[in-house]
Amino acid sequence: MVNGASNRIAIIGASGYGGLQSIRLLKDHPKFDITYLGAKRNAGKAWNDFCPYLPLDHNPLIEEINIEKISEVADFAILSLPNGLASDLVPDLLDGGLRVVDLSADYRYRSLEQWNQIYLKEASVRQRNDKHLCLEAVYGLSEWNFSKIKTSRLVASPGCFPTASLLPILPFLNQGLLEYQGIIIDSKTGTSGGGRTPQEKLLLSEAAESIAPYGVIGHRHTSEIEQLTSEVTGQQTYLQFTPHLVPMAKGLLSTVYGRLRDPGLTAEDCRTVLDSFYRNQPCIEVLPVGIYPATKWVRNTNRALLSVQVDNRNGRVIFTSVIDNLIKGQAGQGIQNLNIMAGYEQELGLPLVTFYP
Ligand SMILES: NC(=O)c1ccc[n+]([C@@H]2O[C@H](COP(=O)([O-])OP(=O)(O)OC[C@H]3O[C@@H](n4cnc5c(N)ncnc54)[C@H](OP(=O)(O)O)[C@@H]3O)[C@@H](O)[C@H]2O)c1
Repeated sequence: MVNGASNRIAIIGASGYGGLQSIRLLKDHPKFDITYLGAKRNAGKAWNDFCPYLPLDHNPLIEEINIEKISEVADFAILSLPNGLASDLVPDLLDGGLRVVDLSADYRYRSLEQWNQIYLKEASVRQRNDKHLCLEAVYGLSEWNFSKIKTSRLVASPGCFPTASLLPILPFLNQGLLEYQGIIIDSKTGTSGGGRTPQEKLLLSEAAESIAPYGVIGHRHTSEIEQLTSEVTGQQTYLQFTPHLVPMAKGLLSTVYGRLRDPGLTAEDCRTVLDSFYRNQPCIEVLPVGIYPATKWVRNTNRALLSVQVDNRNGRVIFTSVIDNLIKGQAGQGIQNLNIMAGYEQELGLPLVTFYP
């Protein structure tokens, strides 16, 4: 035990963006001890040499993935790997007695066939036989699946766009207040959304002073969002989701347009709906009507800020939602889920207020 906390945790994919955030958040967590750091290219390096701006007291080595060793030294694992890789490891980690939070999309779909279709490239190089684990995994939108997460041994943390986009609309869909077809989601995110592995479109010279849509119609997160909206409404829903890359490192804004079933509802009524749903949720805040959130307000925090407005001229409701894509959209929500699994306050060790500006 490194700092006397009671749960040992392995961070797999430690050298990437999700891994770095996980280490930053777990380093001073009162209930988790980091006992294993795993990666591939950077395996063999001492952590403090690799990452002098985030030193760890015991300066561990980054190791190649070794399931036997992980099972010996850890009770929990957080996986922050490119899509597809978690499914190579998770069955053995579970057999080794670990409880796992996966930040990739490998276990977000209840149907393995659907994952094979949506993640075609990743599916084409592996034969997955873990249909049962797709069914067993709990979708880790913390506020939504709290009680299932608590007892789960495998939690699939949601994508960043689904997190920001689903939080404002699920309470409305759940209560039948929103038309379930025709929802439009317009999202903006920064370059860290693409991870640390170099990509041409994420070069400063490409992304700076520019804004562009990508994944129009076919973005993989569309089906993930639709899986939840369909589950909640009991009807197959189809929605429009368009992400945009904006020139900033971190942050995500989703603006969601829908139609109210009852055109008499005011913005204040809608705010009350959201506020009563999230009143006891420490990581969600609903803003007063007329105040719209900025990504900077939640930078480096595990908080989502939501607002709602109604345009009575056309019966549309407009939700805005901001998160830090690497915290509430990835590693922070992963740790929120670990807290829930281990029986602690869900926000334990998670920053909720930013340093501004
Ligand atoms: N970025 C976001 O905003 C965001 C939000 C939500 C969810 N996600 C999901 O979270 C996951 C991680 O994303 P990220 O942005 O953190 O990615 P990233 O920055 O590219 O990091 C990937 C990590 O995986 C390690 N890795 C790659 N291949 C490996 C292998 N064969 N064996 C062991 N380790 C390997 C890399 O280590 P080496 O380079 O040292 O080999 C690195 O530590 C992805 O599935 C992503 O879709 C990302």
